[in-house]
Amino acid sequence: MPEFSHPFMGNAYERKLTEQELVRAIRFSIASEFEAIQLYEQLRDSIENEEAKKLLIEIAGDEKEHVGNFLRLLKLLAPDEENYYKDGWDEGEEVMGIEKK
Ligand SMILES: [Fe+2]
Repeated sequence: MPEFSHPFMGNAYERKLTEQELVRAIRFSIASEFEAIQLYEQLRDSIENEEAKKLLIEIAGDEKEHVGNFLRLLKLLAPDEENYYKDGWDEGEEVMGIEKK
């Protein structure tokens, strides 16, 4: 969520980020997208206005696409990280007894 308590919070850094700092910023961005999805879906489930619900569903879908955008960028910036996700995916399937495709 945005931070507005500091007048310079939205300014760019005086120096460019390192690749490692960019990777960390992308991970943070992914978390922010998930937070937005949660907010929009929770709001959708908490209102009765059908027009607003439709828009919130659309926006939540957009945020899910943004997760994919950032994950793709993360794969480019830190390609080894995908192996951890794959290991977790495989382990999850094994624990749940889901057959591998
Ligand atoms: Fe987004």
